[in-house]
Amino acid sequence: MNLEQLASVALKMVSANKGLLAADESTGTISKRLASVGLDSTEESRRDYRGMLFCTEGLGQYISGVILYDETIRQVSKDGVPLTRLLIDQGILPGIKVDTGAKALAGSDGEKVTEGLDGLYDRVSEYVELGAKFAKWRAVVSISATLPSNYCINVNAHALARYARICQEVGLVPIVEPEVLMDGSHTIDRCSEVTEHTLEIVFRELVAQGVELGGMILKPNMIISGKDCPQQAGPEEVAARTILGLQRTVPAEVPGIMFLSGGQSEADATAHLNAMNAGDACPWALSYSYGRALQESALKSWGLNQKDSLVAQGRLLKRAHLNSAACAAQYVGEAA
Ligand code: 13P
Repeated sequence: MNLEQLASVALKMVSANKGLLAADESTGTISKRLASVGLDSTEESRRDYRGMLFCTEGLGQYISGVILYDETIRQVSKDGVPLTRLLIDQGILPGIKVDTGAKALAGSDGEKVTEGLDGLYDRVSEYVELGAKFAKWRAVVSISATLPSNYCINVNAHALARYARICQEVGLVPIVEPEVLMDGSHTIDRCSEVTEHTLEIVFRELVAQGVELGGMILKPNMIISGKDCPQQAGPEEVAARTILGLQRTVPAEVPGIMFLSGGQSEADATAHLNAMNAGDACPWALSYSYGRALQESALKSWGLNQKDSLVAQGRLLKRAHLNSAACAAQYVGEAA
């Protein structure tokens, strides 16, 4: 493991106000997304949709890396160009999701544990050969009147740290993603309490397992009100609560924090990121690694017309541009 190399990739991921495009939906998830705009999901339709996104002219100005799925990192466009090549040609780093999904946690009432550790060393070694520079593993934590359990947080934190250590051994920067879900009617206070507790346990495990904190990226949820909570906190409160929670739990050595969007609207995800970057300087760069909040408008356009890529690409580029502006606290709203 070479910390200098890992740190240089991690810094590149968050440099120049750039962020990540999460395009690593599992086949099940991308199929639902394509169905939502009336499209069938086949190996070819997934390739064409993602290939269209990756060919967006100018994307490299705002996007430093794209998280790919196993199928995608091996795909070749209909013109015969590997999809990873489309990214590299724009100066964008290819990354790869390496977990195999969140599965029912034995003995728990409805919680999940993320799987994928078996054979991980060999899998990540192959991804390095295929050109990946970083990896992602997502754990999910649900909030309800009785959840989360410490059992769920502990087993997920343990797996996140094992994954991160293995990635660093083969030279991949691990994105550590413990996502506290926004589903539910809980308050922002409760989200804050659960997020801080989760991050505390995750960093305890990362340190215990010898993960180099300077050679990883954290991908957390923002601290926001539950989706069905009657009191919805505004961007200033979300920003202040999120920063406070991160300051209490995330060591300064971590080079970058790249948020997930988690089901927030495109505009909310951008406004929240902007408000965070408008505050006092933090020890870590604060950027984005959005899936839905970068793709939603583009996907709708693609559903309407797959013959003309330019409209969908224009929508992706606009979101990437606005989020990049938010990294510099220069987002002034949607009309701009
Ligand atoms: P969303 O931004 O849609 O939450 O996706 C990010 C991601 O990578 C989830 O694992």
